[in-house]
Amino acid sequence: MKRLALTLVLVLGFASLAFAGWDKCQGCHNGKTAGDKAKILEKIKTADEFVKAAQASKSPMMKSAQGDEANLKAAAADLGLK
Ligand code: HEC
Repeated sequence: MKRLALTLVLVLGFASLAFAGWDKCQGCHNGKTAGDKAKILEKIKTADEFVKAAQASKSPMMKSAQGDEANLKAAAADLGLK
């Protein structure tokens, strides 16, 4: 049983680590709730602009994303922005 619990902790730990950058945003940014990758890349061209646009959004749904600037930068990199 101990081994099973340990495995679970490790797997969940890795899963939450893997869930970073743009992965954290896709739940909403899927083209339905909010603009998807293609839509965002249509108007945003640099990582700087991307972080600013995310922080300037008035949507209450963006609140938690706005506080995590490191992850906004990671998401920008995931989208291929520099
Ligand atoms: C809980 C839902 C939700 C999550 C999670 C979320 N967003 Fe958003 N986001 C929105 C909504 C709603 C808007 C406003 C509608 C729109 O612009 O499509 C928005 C707007 C934005 C905008 C501005 C788009 C524009 O056209 O100006 C950016 C950039 C953005 N989000 C980036 C992110 C990033 C990066 C993450 C992950 C770190 C993220 N969002 C996570 C819902 C979410």
